[in-house]
Amino acid sequence: MRTFKNLASLILLVFGFACSVSAAPLPRIHILATGGTIAGVGASSTGSAYKPGQLGIDQLLEAVPEINKVAEVTGEQIFTIASQDMTDVDWLKLAQRVNQLLARDDVDGIVITHGTDTMEETAYFLNLTVKSNKPVVLTGAMRPATSLSADGPLNLFNAVVTAGAKESEGRGTLIVLNGIILGARDATKTNTLSVQTFQSPNSGILGYVHDGEVNYQLKNEKLHTSQSVFDITNRTTLPKVGIVYGYANADPVLVEALINAGYEGIVHAGVGNGNIHKQVFPALIKARNKGIQVVRSSRVPTGPSTLDAEVDDQANRFIAALDLNPQKARILLMLALTETNDWEKIQEMFLVY
Ligand code: SIN
Repeated sequence: MRTFKNLASLILLVFGFACSVSAAPLPRIHILATGGTIAGVGASSTGSAYKPGQLGIDQLLEAVPEINKVAEVTGEQIFTIASQDMTDVDWLKLAQRVNQLLARDDVDGIVITHGTDTMEETAYFLNLTVKSNKPVVLTGAMRPATSLSADGPLNLFNAVVTAGAKESEGRGTLIVLNGIILGARDATKTNTLSVQTFQSPNSGILGYVHDGEVNYQLKNEKLHTSQSVFDITNRTTLPKVGIVYGYANADPVLVEALINAGYEGIVHAGVGNGNIHKQVFPALIKARNKGIQVVRSSRVPTGPSTLDAEVDDQANRFIAALDLNPQKARILLMLALTETNDWEKIQEMFLVY
């Protein structure tokens, strides 16, 4: 009888040990919901009319119970907006909350649900202001939650898988939609309707998320997150930077308006290699003479606006955006201006971030 009892205890002990070895703790992922189409509701499952930002975080999570098998998830509704209404103040609040959460030992990663319209901008802002190597992943949807074949639930599941994966650490802020993982610096929305809207036209996608697993192929080589100098901890505003679009027969009136409105920086979304119309050039020189920083970006989606090519940046004290698109060049210039107003130092920042 005694031998039987000893044997039973031994079996229980071995079984318990095996279970504790095989059941690794689930990653603890906090979701910050901001609104967007992923939380959108339409009158019909087949029509295109809908209102973004109608569902709360609890309803988004209820639609994906499978998430509980891959992570211990908590969530909060930080905003309820369509992302075209995102502001600098919202970005500061979001980045400060992400930094607060990631400083905690009981948070392993963050997922942010966000409208797709300005997702790339929020992602790049966080890429430069989050002070942690833990994963931060933005996701959203191109179809509202009520749509046939809504893409939001799988995108949310994949984003949580990505945020919970050790392999995602130290890669900067990520965007996950439609099974692909993109880096915040290069990802951009390329289609107004398609679920395969995000692409990284200059550097390529970083990896895939499929069947509950991530598979990375590339690494982001630019500085980001914990390597970044930008500290927004106590900031409540950002320097004003506007974008002026370049086109044939362009008028200087838009540059003049930004000068008169007290902007500290202007991003010119030029033609070709960041080129500037001869009618606009003198207004940009005027801006420089008033101490306003001018970044030469390009409206062309791929390739860099190279330094000192057709425009003499040294002589004009312009900053070349290289392959940062105009909306991201605006973000880097705003953050750069929180550190310095020396155009050569800002040019250095455009080379490394
Ligand atoms: C938005 O950006 O909030 C609306 C569009 C979308 O989420 O796809």
